[in-house]
Amino acid sequence: MKVLVIGKGGREHAMAWKLAQGPSVSKVFVAPGNPGMEADQKIECVGIGETDFEALSKFFIDHDISYAVVGAEVPLDRGIVDFFLSKKLPIIGPTKLSTKLESSKIYSKQTMLAAEIPTAEALFFDHLKDIVQYIGTSEFDPKGWVLKADELEAGKGVFVVDTKKELLNACEYLFNKQGRRVLLEKRLVGPEVSYFALCDGEEFTILGNACDYKRLLDHGKGPNTGGMGSYSPADWVTKGDEKTIIEKGFKALLKYLAGKGTPFHGFLFLGAMITKTGPYILEYNVRMGDPETQSLMPRIKTDLATLFLEYTQKSPSWTTTPIEYHPGHGVHVVLASAGYPGIDGEIIKGVNVSFDPVINQWEENRSKYFAAGVGLNSRGEMVSTGGRVMGLTSLSHNKSEAARLVYQNIGKVQFEGAQYRNDIAQN
Ligand code: AMP
Ligand code: GLY
Repeated sequence: MKVLVIGKGGREHAMAWKLAQGPSVSKVFVAPGNPGMEADQKIECVGIGETDFEALSKFFIDHDISYAVVGAEVPLDRGIVDFFLSKKLPIIGPTKLSTKLESSKIYSKQTMLAAEIPTAEALFFDHLKDIVQYIGTSEFDPKGWVLKADELEAGKGVFVVDTKKELLNACEYLFNKQGRRVLLEKRLVGPEVSYFALCDGEEFTILGNACDYKRLLDHGKGPNTGGMGSYSPADWVTKGDEKTIIEKGFKALLKYLAGKGTPFHGFLFLGAMITKTGPYILEYNVRMGDPETQSLMPRIKTDLATLFLEYTQKSPSWTTTPIEYHPGHGVHVVLASAGYPGIDGEIIKGVNVSFDPVINQWEENRSKYFAAGVGLNSRGEMVSTGGRVMGLTSLSHNKSEAARLVYQNIGKVQFEGAQYRNDIAQN
């Protein structure tokens, strides 16, 4: 069979590579993909943008594709799934309506509360003066709260600050953008974990879990980013806490949404904080995580290409097939452009990117690069296109050994100004 992955980053590269390993797969097309992906067998990039739905559906039909998998959030938000389904083309992802679970934090919180999902208490504010008044009261303790913008703010919409002054500045920043609503949420404390499931209404299968590192610099310093690295599995989560996450985080949500007549389909990504009193759900995303996917996919032994086919064909076997894993841990470290994430200056683009083929020898060395922000210049050379440029994954019997392998190879990716964290999977 032939499959189509939609997106262009490291997450889509990892998915495409995993799907290409399916014995029944002859080709994985990625639209638009990036030139770093094509070194992999069976992967071919297609020069169609991820929001050009007409061209994507035509390509799908012309190439006799079995199903499409959407990696990236933008085409989902624009309604790619609705478009494909209206043409009866099989696609994995949520409808536009369901993307609200990720794109509105207020809707998401209200849904969690209605479905009795363990989550931090929250207050909603529509006007700056109301929140300023609330924060101004003498009993208000800023250390007990987190401020969140309702809408996605590209990683800049959540404020965990300790003084009233910082909190008020953040409120002003958010309300100065027209039409903003915000929520104040009780602050929780504990380690965080991400879980991933493939869902079809009330049916779901857990694909696995992972931890990501959001800050740019070692030891959680520096600005927030899309994610600078990850490891999988998060084997410190107890069986009891995992059961709570599955029962109350996934099952209860899916039942509630189906009961409301808005069943959820596609990948569901849940972020939880494990507090002293058990897991609390922080957020849902309607897609896989990046860079969590890059440490999770290489661990999965199950043929996902077949599982996804069964899913799109609604064959019951997709939920009864247990997800099997290779033993050990996957660790992924991201190399980003100079200037990333672009808060204090410009992100540097267009520098030459080179690498030693050793970092693409999975069978021999358990070492794999996943390419993200790369393109070709007019001379056909690989150059950075900014942001997260590449990442390296290794798999080994334990986390520290997998991390050691990644760091042993990290110098084999070269581009001017590359920055990466040195402490991924070290704690
Ligand atoms: P979110 O986008 O809602 O997952 O928030 C981004 C990050 O902010 C999370 O990964 C946490 O590190 C932090 N955060 C969010 N909500 C809370 C909370 N209620 N208490 C403490 N930290 C939080
Ligand atoms: N790694 C977090 C995300 O994909 O949103």
